[in-house]
Amino acid sequence: MKIWMLLKNPENYNINRFKEEAKKQETILETVSAEDFDIIATKEGRKSIYLGGKEIEELPDVLIPRMGSGTTYFALAVIRHLENLGVLVLNKAESIELAKDKLASLQHLAKHNLPIPKTMLAKFPFNMEIIKKEFSFPIIIKTLSGSLGKGVFLCDKKSSLENVMDLIESSKDSAKNFIFQEFISGSKGRDIRVIVIGGRPIGAMLREAKKGSFRANFSAGGKVSNFELNPAVAWLAVESAKLTSLDIAGVDILFDGENYYVCEVNSAPGFEGFEKATGVNVPKMIFDYIDVRKFGSE
Ligand SMILES: Nc1ncnc2c1ncn2[C@@H]1O[C@H](COP(=O)(O)OP(=O)(O)O)[C@@H](O)[C@H]1O
Ligand SMILES: [Mg+2]
Repeated sequence: MKIWMLLKNPENYNINRFKEEAKKQETILETVSAEDFDIIATKEGRKSIYLGGKEIEELPDVLIPRMGSGTTYFALAVIRHLENLGVLVLNKAESIELAKDKLASLQHLAKHNLPIPKTMLAKFPFNMEIIKKEFSFPIIIKTLSGSLGKGVFLCDKKSSLENVMDLIESSKDSAKNFIFQEFISGSKGRDIRVIVIGGRPIGAMLREAKKGSFRANFSAGGKVSNFELNPAVAWLAVESAKLTSLDIAGVDILFDGENYYVCEVNSAPGFEGFEKATGVNVPKMIFDYIDVRKFGSE
């Protein structure tokens, strides 16, 4: 079997783990980059795609896009094209695009009655009256497509928010979109990450932020440990993956006492911390799922 993995830049831990597991089961795993493709929409099928300037002789059996929130318009077009040519694509372009947009994906989950933190699209200049009416401080401010905890800020009071507004407005990038979000205080510095593959939760980890931080991301220095899945968390994670049609999903869940909230869904979850915390072999789980999809057995 031949798998292509679509990458932004050669990832380190994740891609090495995929390669390691592929080797064990004689799967050919090749990494490709979106910019190396030329695609032409035509009804002639296979001759309508080039890689590195050459017509592709043999398409892969499977494409695994791993660009996550960094998936460009161009990459989405390439993914869609391979889907149209009959390649099994995990995840699909439409789902990646939805997951990439934190507001659109939360709107979609909320529409289907899943609990989410109250979320508002920022408008410039900020309407302080509405913000004050709808939220109490501190509030969370996020970029629409951030990842690794890098585009998430905690704003403790109204005057800080006014400063943030001035800063954003004065920068050239004021067209960038932001969301305001209710701060789930019981979750401060902690969240649960569940990985769902083919509709099945394969495990979960509790992430705890390093001292002084409220972001629990492993890549931001968060501590990870195994989390014994309970029915509520398992159900929320599975529903989130199903509603966004993600075959492979990393679902972040916040909590406050007994209440759980879906924070975001990720289409290309990293799994260094996850494997460490849970002992689950993530690439093998993905390859097993592909076998079931392709051949009906592992
Ligand atoms: N509404 C919130 N309330 C409390 N903590 C939050 C909230 N939103 C995000 N966080 C914290 O910030 C982290 C990063 O936020 P997230 O939306 O998952 O962005 P990223 O895509 O960068 O991972 C979360 O894992 C969580 O620890
Ligand atoms: Mg996250």
